[in-house]
Amino acid sequence: MAGDADLLLAWANEPSTRAAGFHPDPIDPATHRRWLAERLAAPGRSLFVGLDDGEPVGPVRIDIDEDGRAEVGNSVAEAARGRGIGRALLEAGITAAVAAADDRSTSDGSPPIRTLVAHIRPDNAASLALFGRAGFHAAGEGSVHGALCRVFERPVPRPAPRVVAIVQARLGSTRLPGKVLLPLGAYPVLGHVMRRVARAASVDRVVLATTTHPADDPLIDLADREGWSVVRGSVEDVLDRYMTAARAHDADLVVRITSDCPLIDPEVVDEVVAASLDEAWDFTANTIEPRTYPRGLDTEVISRTALARAWAEDEEPAWREHVTPYLYRHPDRFRCRAVRSPTDHSAERWVVDTSADYDLLQRIVGALDRDDASWREVLAVVEAHPEWRDLNRAVEQKVVPPAAGQQ
Ligand SMILES: CC(C)(COP(=O)(O)OP(=O)(O)OC[C@H]1O[C@@H](n2cnc3c(N)ncnc32)[C@H](O)[C@@H]1OP(=O)(O)O)[C@@H](O)C(=O)NCCC(=O)NCCS
Repeated sequence: MAGDADLLLAWANEPSTRAAGFHPDPIDPATHRRWLAERLAAPGRSLFVGLDDGEPVGPVRIDIDEDGRAEVGNSVAEAARGRGIGRALLEAGITAAVAAADDRSTSDGSPPIRTLVAHIRPDNAASLALFGRAGFHAAGEGSVHGALCRVFERPVPRPAPRVVAIVQARLGSTRLPGKVLLPLGAYPVLGHVMRRVARAASVDRVVLATTTHPADDPLIDLADREGWSVVRGSVEDVLDRYMTAARAHDADLVVRITSDCPLIDPEVVDEVVAASLDEAWDFTANTIEPRTYPRGLDTEVISRTALARAWAEDEEPAWREHVTPYLYRHPDRFRCRAVRSPTDHSAERWVVDTSADYDLLQRIVGALDRDDASWREVLAVVEAHPEWRDLNRAVEQKVVPPAAGQQ
């Protein structure tokens, strides 16, 4: 370690490297050791030493900021220059830093590297050539410590995100026990949900997330018979159950669906996923107040990084049970986007929460001639029988409590 520190200092103090940087004076050993200790301790800062035939040849530094912009700097020992090492080292450092940031991102919600940035002095021909060759494009001028520099950027291509719909279900419902297994036309309630979500073109995988409680074993039996993916997790900490399922299925985007919505519409799911992708939102949903969609089409899309952050930070058990309040109640910390229907249909209630709801759903499903009817077809059925709305009009939706101390 001490040897590495000495080597890094010797490289940094080579005259051509000092001249290429923004602090022309030689660096003294005490300042160097302080700088090194600080950067090795800081998350989001990488420092690699390149080896050529086992011999150390130069460092690559990459520092990620909170928006996923990563500042890159490198140098090659004077004696090793002009042999392609700078280029090879730069790519190796970028690859390692991108992978390390991805790992951190999926575990603690810190940002992945989206853009690489280099600040280069206009007179540094070698570095201009190197970064140009490496696919960086000119992005204007800037200044570092008062010195003029040219800014170069390279976007980091991200693979298409893997979209995993996670359907939460358990049999221990308080208002209508066992509701997700109640028959509704050709399938139990949960069968409708799983089938309809699977029809969403944007969804790569549908996972049933139930609890480890033995009372939920019948759901596992049903999943086995139907060939559904299933994950078991905490009974009360549903946020933790979602995180477990997201990890197990390598989700980049999680679509949260509750199993009491048998008329969930795959096109609405696709619409919310598309809205989430268009600016890489943290939380995108058709449930954000004021609601406009009928209750029962509830679709919430959460980026894996935002889910990981909520999972790590949310200390309210009552919020964790509802998975997403920590996100939508902190719009200052999470980029939240509401998806709304042009017309307000929020008075419609197509969920199975009470026996009154179940009565209504049985009538609707009985009146539909197919099990893949869209929500507009459902609406048409309800509009043809407006008196059915009285069946569950009085049912009150459960409310997520405020944070403790804010009652
Ligand atoms: C910039 C630096 C890392 C290049 O390292 P290197 O191992 O010599 O670079 P490579 O051999 O991989 O060459 C990369 C490209 O730069 C070009 N290049 C290298 N030295 C050059 C020079 N003095 N003038 C012009 N182009 C030069 C190479 O020809 C090559 O381009 P090509 O693929 O078109 O031939 C090295 O010169 C250095 O450490 N400089 C001092 C520190 C510095 O400037 N760091 C960058 C700060 S952001």
